[in-house]
Amino acid sequence: MSDNKLNQLEELKKNCLSCEKCGLCKGRHHVVFGVGAADAEVMFIGEGPGEQEDLKGEPFVGKAGILLDKMLTAIDLDRNKNIYIANIVKCRPPQNRDPQSEEQENCIPWLRRQFSVIRPKIIVCLGRIAATKIIRPDFRITREHGQFFNKNGVIMTAILHPAALLRYPENKPAAFEDFLRLQDKIKEVCEHTYLP
Ligand code: URA
Repeated sequence: MSDNKLNQLEELKKNCLSCEKCGLCKGRHHVVFGVGAADAEVMFIGEGPGEQEDLKGEPFVGKAGILLDKMLTAIDLDRNKNIYIANIVKCRPPQNRDPQSEEQENCIPWLRRQFSVIRPKIIVCLGRIAATKIIRPDFRITREHGQFFNKNGVIMTAILHPAALLRYPENKPAAFEDFLRLQDKIKEVCEHTYLP
């Protein structure tokens, strides 16, 4: 089953790497497809690659990514073992601006296909852009982060974006609370995330 998912993801990635559906392809060094376990029960979704991600071809490998990895480790999650991480747009927006809605619309089919292969039980949106695209267009990240929503049988939540936590470190305790609640939710609904 998992081998099959891996093959499907590899095939999808191969196609995605040559995508030219929007103007973001012009400035990219790498398409940042996603990273993690093909059979992950928990999928994290960010907004789009920054400079380091564009250079390395992997999501969340800059300063925000280091913080994200620390928070993941604190609740026994690991991008190389039991989760999957992807972005709304796969190519870096210039000067790290927000991805425009047309760019998001053009790119989201790749994420939908990743979702269809992986079939996670829980989706964690990292920040406002992912939350408004995935959970609800009028999602208010400052008010609603850490809450759980059920959308067509998939549990969804949003947490503050790690880059925002670097800018406003006073929000780190609230984000950590959200991570602890996420850990409880994983224990409640996931079967193999925390198995050795
Ligand atoms: N911010 C994101 O939203 N995604 C990344 O991959 C890196 C930074």
